[in-house]
Amino acid sequence: MLRSGNEQKRSGILTVIFYIGALTSCACGKEQPDMADKAQVGVAYYNQSDTFLNQLIECLKEQFEQYANDDFEIALTVRDAAGSQRTQDDQVEELLDAGCDVLCVNLVDRADPSEIIDLARAHDVPIIFFNREPVAEDMMQWDKLYYVGADAKQSGVMQGELAADFIRGSKNADRNKDGKIQYVVLEGEAGHQDAIIRTEYAVATLKKKGIVLEKLSCGIANWNRAQAQNRMMQMISRHRNKIELVLANNDDMALGALDAYKKLNVTEAVLPIFFGIDGTDMGLKAVADHQLAATVYNNKEDQAAVMAELAAALIFETGMQDIPFTNGKYIYMPYFKITDENVDAFYSEE
Ligand code: GAL
Ligand code: CA
Repeated sequence: MLRSGNEQKRSGILTVIFYIGALTSCACGKEQPDMADKAQVGVAYYNQSDTFLNQLIECLKEQFEQYANDDFEIALTVRDAAGSQRTQDDQVEELLDAGCDVLCVNLVDRADPSEIIDLARAHDVPIIFFNREPVAEDMMQWDKLYYVGADAKQSGVMQGELAADFIRGSKNADRNKDGKIQYVVLEGEAGHQDAIIRTEYAVATLKKKGIVLEKLSCGIANWNRAQAQNRMMQMISRHRNKIELVLANNDDMALGALDAYKKLNVTEAVLPIFFGIDGTDMGLKAVADHQLAATVYNNKEDQAAVMAELAAALIFETGMQDIPFTNGKYIYMPYFKITDENVDAFYSEE
């Protein structure tokens, strides 16, 4: 059983130490954690302004608690790169110098992991990349590189299916009754695997399902709610009430699009339908409140669980055979659909 979780913020470093199981007794009878065995895991992530990543990191902290045991402690040190690859390279160097045993890295620039890989290899510390998938050639640079994430194509297909089902079941989706759905897309970062692929497959799936589409506009909003609101304002001023469908690469951007309509105080009758991806706390609430039509759950709990399992296998040098690898070093956790029919099982008001 977890005895205590201890969080400290010191010089910008968030350190979480988990003491698990039996606490040893010292001569004075006061319980002390057994410090004999300790592992350190360094977590570096691209930007703390990203809602989904913050929620994923929270899950990760919870998951690591379970991999400490009677005489073992795991210290997790989390560093935010604030969007700079240079900063992240330096942070990784510090984490390695501080003696971490495993690194979990959410790259800022998924095409630029070489410095981090060289540093880790020099210290012989394995890297679990997560969420921002390095290109395949870079994953071949060393045999102690792993990736945990999800299959972007699956999320795009699911978003397309959800939108197609919703449109088929609604009399009002095609508001101007021209037989087509006028749509706009809000995209995540240029060059991110989850942006291009989600858009491509959401649109292709809608078409495959027989929905006739007319694309009005597309804007990059970097996964960010405020940027999405701005982009959406521009699109609304250009297309007025013509927009019938908003496909957003994540929930924060779908919510930002909705914010734009709220700010303009438009009537219900001219609101388009909004679809997100992630199932963040706010995204789920918006589905429960019927503000987003649906979302696709980016399974942060399972991603975090398998990262902790893999890190533990690397630390203890046992259990690798239980990890569900694809091609030896990749682990993809499935997405699933969330609509008003199943949202209550995932979302509660607290
Ligand atoms: C995606 C997620 C986005 C954003 C991005 C960051 O998987 O859907 O909301 O967090 O990762 O890399
Ligand atoms: Ca129409």
